[in-house]
Amino acid sequence: MGHSVVCVDIDENKILALKSGTVPFFEPHLSELVVQEQARGRLSYTSDASEGLCKAEAVFIAVGTPPDEFGGVNMSAFWSAVDGVAQFIEYDSVLIIKSTVPIGTNSAVREKLPNSISVASNPEFLREGRAIKDFFHPDRIVAGVSDERSKSVIENLYSQTQAQLFFMSPESAELVKYASNAFLATKISYINEIANLAERVGADIRDVALAVGEDKRIGKDFLNAGIGYGGSCFPKDISALHYMAGENGCDFTLLASVIDVNNKQRERFVQKIISDLGVLEGRNIAVWGLAFKNGTDDIRESAAIDIVVKCLEHGANVCVFDPKAMENAYRSVGSSVAFAKTALDAVVRADALVVATEWPEFALQDFDEVKNRMRGNKIYDGRNILSNLKLNDKGFEYYGVGIK
Ligand code: UGA
Repeated sequence: MGHSVVCVDIDENKILALKSGTVPFFEPHLSELVVQEQARGRLSYTSDASEGLCKAEAVFIAVGTPPDEFGGVNMSAFWSAVDGVAQFIEYDSVLIIKSTVPIGTNSAVREKLPNSISVASNPEFLREGRAIKDFFHPDRIVAGVSDERSKSVIENLYSQTQAQLFFMSPESAELVKYASNAFLATKISYINEIANLAERVGADIRDVALAVGEDKRIGKDFLNAGIGYGGSCFPKDISALHYMAGENGCDFTLLASVIDVNNKQRERFVQKIISDLGVLEGRNIAVWGLAFKNGTDDIRESAAIDIVVKCLEHGANVCVFDPKAMENAYRSVGSSVAFAKTALDAVVRADALVVATEWPEFALQDFDEVKNRMRGNKIYDGRNILSNLKLNDKGFEYYGVGIK
């Protein structure tokens, strides 16, 4: 957008890696963009906050806010970042909260800082795997401000985008973030419940979701049934919103059900496999997909990893493949599973194939070859991405969520 950006982190190794052009996670096109902007001199990195914050007109805080053990938010990284910023931020700067934080945080930060520093809330709606596209073409930009200076700095920052800016109180902006993620998660749990019913009554969730989503009031997106949502955002944000509602005397029963449905959806899927195979002890299960969704190497709260672990607990031998998430999965499930070099290698002598992440390339595999290599013929598609391939005609017993 034409601004100069200095990234500050206390993790010196991360800063060194970024300086040499290494992005520490997979995000399509991000490496190219940061290398290009670094070469142009508009993007730099430092672990020295005094250097990074000097002359900054706007300082974004974008540290992680993971869940705490009670379902609330662990704010320790956030508050230590605020303390760091408070030492070096220039008089007249605007501190912008980008991290997802509990409602009331903006006001608490303002109380901590001198009046000369404005504080704004600017929640992010980027999706992993599509972050650059979402950044340049957002559906909307939300800003919680309590003074004119923050408003004009934010207007200038985003003057290059076509998206509408919504200015509101900091509390409202903080709530928009949670309300948006929780609504999307609710859509997923809702369609998964409809899919479970569809299976019982002989309906096909693909037709149902398509037709339901055509109603503009409902919308087509986030109606893909399957093994449910994961990732570093939905599970923690939905729990945090439920927790905050409780703290404020609101019994948000809908959210408790959204969480419950999501957990049960994974268990239900594994139970389906067990009821078909009889027992998992000694069975060979191939799993395609480990990331919490396609387009990322992130396995945090991944339904795929959960299913791998559940299969292992039931005594199965598990062989896995993911186009991007193998290294992260190795750190998580390590020596207890076999890691295949390709999707086809993973299915050798498998009794059943499980598809756990919606990578489009899984639908492009040679299923005659899959059949040759497998010992059994069962495919459990937790993301319904193979559902159009007529795999039953190829001699497979295909199961998709909510598909008869
Ligand atoms: C989510 C939100 O979509 C972003 O707007 C938000 O900025 C971000 O969280 C955040 O709070 O930082 P992300 O975690 O990248 O983004 O993932 P999504 O693309 O939303 O997918 C979440 C999960 O839902 C995945 O496990 C995916 O497989 C699942 N999903 C998605 C479904 O099961 N069905 C669907 O129809 C859509």
